[in-house]
Amino acid sequence: MARLFQTPILSLLVLLPLLVSSQNNGSVPLGSSLTAQEPSSTPWRSPSGDFALGFRKIEGNSDGFVLSIWFDKIPDKTIVWYATVDGGIVPEGSKVTLTADRGLVLTSPQGRQLWRSQVMTGSVSHAFMEDTGNFVLQNVDSEDLWSSFSDPTDTLLPTQIMELGGTVSSRRSETDFTKGRFQLRLLGDGNLVLNTISADTLANADTYAAYYISNTFDPQNSTNSGFRLMFNESGYMYILRRNNSTLGFIPVENLLPSKDYYYRAVLHFDGVFAQYYYPRQQTNDGNARSWSMLWSKPDNICAKLFGSDFAENEIGRQACGYNNVCTLGKERRPICKCPEKFSLVDPQDEYGDCKPDFDVQTCNGSEDEYELVSLQGTNFPTGDYERYRNYDEESCKSSCLKDCFCAAVIHGGNLCWKKKFPLSYGIHDPSGSGSAFIKVPIRGNFRRDEYVNFEAEGKKNRDGLIIGGSVLIGALAFVNFVLVYLYNKKKNDLRNPRCDAHAEVESNLRVFTYKELKEATREFKEELGRGAFGIVYKGAVKTAGVAISIVVAVKKLDRVVQESDKEFKNEVKVIAKTHHKNLVKLVGFCNEGQNRLIVYEFLPYGTLASFLFSRPRPNWRERRRMAMEIARGIVYLHEECNEQIVHCDIKPQNILLDEYYGAKISDFGLAKTLMMNQTHTQTNIRGTKGYVAPEWFRNSPITAKVDVYSFGVMILEIVCCKKAVDLEDNVILTDWVYDCFREDKLIDLIEEDVEAIQDMETVARYVRTSIWCIQEESGMRPNMRQVAHMLEGVSEVPVPPNPSPYYSAFHSIKE
Ligand SMILES: *[C@@H]1O[C@H](CO)[C@@H](O)[C@H](O)[C@H]1NC(C)=O
Repeated sequence: MARLFQTPILSLLVLLPLLVSSQNNGSVPLGSSLTAQEPSSTPWRSPSGDFALGFRKIEGNSDGFVLSIWFDKIPDKTIVWYATVDGGIVPEGSKVTLTADRGLVLTSPQGRQLWRSQVMTGSVSHAFMEDTGNFVLQNVDSEDLWSSFSDPTDTLLPTQIMELGGTVSSRRSETDFTKGRFQLRLLGDGNLVLNTISADTLANADTYAAYYISNTFDPQNSTNSGFRLMFNESGYMYILRRNNSTLGFIPVENLLPSKDYYYRAVLHFDGVFAQYYYPRQQTNDGNARSWSMLWSKPDNICAKLFGSDFAENEIGRQACGYNNVCTLGKERRPICKCPEKFSLVDPQDEYGDCKPDFDVQTCNGSEDEYELVSLQGTNFPTGDYERYRNYDEESCKSSCLKDCFCAAVIHGGNLCWKKKFPLSYGIHDPSGSGSAFIKVPIRGNFRRDEYVNFEAEGKKNRDGLIIGGSVLIGALAFVNFVLVYLYNKKKNDLRNPRCDAHAEVESNLRVFTYKELKEATREFKEELGRGAFGIVYKGAVKTAGVAISIVVAVKKLDRVVQESDKEFKNEVKVIAKTHHKNLVKLVGFCNEGQNRLIVYEFLPYGTLASFLFSRPRPNWRERRRMAMEIARGIVYLHEECNEQIVHCDIKPQNILLDEYYGAKISDFGLAKTLMMNQTHTQTNIRGTKGYVAPEWFRNSPITAKVDVYSFGVMILEIVCCKKAVDLEDNVILTDWVYDCFREDKLIDLIEEDVEAIQDMETVARYVRTSIWCIQEESGMRPNMRQVAHMLEGVSEVPVPPNPSPYYSAFHSIKE
């Protein structure tokens, strides 16, 4: 009955539009049309009314309409598909018609064709707006001739599939529906990638190197390669491999039921690809509903992903334009900001290029007219033309001032890099170690008419000089004030990423009763792992007020832990004050007599150990990234907390991986007292020459250097994908590595690891660094910050000495 829409009913349709919308079956007969006008004509709705196709007037874009499909029951009517036309929008009076030969045809008020659906052979007999959000054209045999799902724009919806060769493209901005410069593609080899394209004319646009790659191409075993990007009815998005195994972006249990939530995944105009959910019904708490993010890629869009092909990697823009600097903002979205004395080329496009507000130095003028302004924690990782070793900051700066080609220098460790214009891939990372110095004229040389100094403007406003004048100026001043305030506030936040800055975390800590945790873990049913201090169980706890559970890891501390109440509370407090993306987050704790439990966030992808020691070897680039992440986490524990935290048990089993394969350190803050008691009394507990620094076996004081030692061992495991002590092979990794190093046979360490072989320079740097870390004499080891600098390549790594000059002595203590 539903499909019996015939002519008599059509006339009823005209007479009783209200009745029709409730009886709509989503079918659109041949010859139907819609016109772009205000107020808008009734769109073509799906049977449930969830989706509609029609014209939308675009706010903030002059008098234009977009032919699009949107979520019709959501107040902001989120657009999920649009007809991509030149200029992005069509004028009032444009019309879309369902034709037999060309399918959907969009024409201008003068009748010129602006867009049409690319119908395969055959003749369209009708169309449907389906409840999934798919608009389908069919022939008389109900075969699909074209669908909006097969011709996606920037959004994917549940039940939509991307096949090999498929592409999703970003828009140019939130309100500009022209094709932007980011793409999500499923490549022929099975890799899902995000990449930019050359931004000139789209007709001959070229694709640039990827800034995210799923690593689902397996040259050894093609059945292990990806071949479809699935977004199933439950709202689960994953890469399907040829052997039917799947790779999801998040654990499936993190999903909310799709009967209660809408889902969509969108490639934002700023290059971030993210999945969102939205409650279908108004919730009882009366809060306004909104789209919430479930996950996003890449992890850090500001950071350039360097592949093996450097030349390919150096070109193009990523999140921010040339001479612009990227900071990672909320929900991993980029924030772009021109450096001081630079301004946007297109003031409407903050993600675009920045131009200098001064005349760039030529080689005819005098070098005395220029100075360098410093940008703390900023780097431009590409565009070098010179590099000097053993340069301190002063010599680095002066060499730039004396060089008329030099646009900027980066100084880090004792290296100095000279950069030329345009500066690219600018990234601001407050935890980064290097500084950029940009060359600007000392005075007088600014092109005043165009020059807007953000900070100076801000000061003026605060002094109240721009009061009076029109309301508009007042409003602008206010906006400016807010921006400056936010900017300064942010700057301060960034400068101060310390534990105490996040003291409020402590008050967010939940105190659980034992009973609650027993229920949350279903009586400690599912064991996740056993650590030094107890067993970890999986659980689910309700978040306050909302009927959504979050998955947690509950660690039940052993009875062995004979601490006083006060000590336990102190330890929990110390952990609670930590706040770093490479540390596992504390959710709460329970402290009832003998029952001491700690509740952490749950990390779905297991431990670094299981990742490293699986075969085939995991990707070298990922391993390298994880090594850096762990190093940063330890630097934080050692140097950036009120109370120094020595981990004492750094090993791959204590590094957990989050849903983005980010490395997070767990089990910190508990170890010190325990380990000391244990080790000094019962040396055999951890007495293998594995990760444990020799101090533990001697009467030497235990310092943060024990972590440096263990970290060094772990770096070797990360490089070689081999365990520190492998009883089967009878290999002690540290000894073997030093032998290979001495004999100049580092290649033996990485076997057939093609990616690592192409990156031998880094491999060698990592090995040298770790040999410094595992010096038996703790005074010889660098501190963690120095280690991080060495790994990053900002400081030189000298040739390390033999780590165990007293090797035999140590050996005999051990055995
Ligand atoms: C979607 O995929 C997940 C994970 O494979 C699965 O648990 C779920 O049942 C799937 N949903 C549907 C409707 O097939």
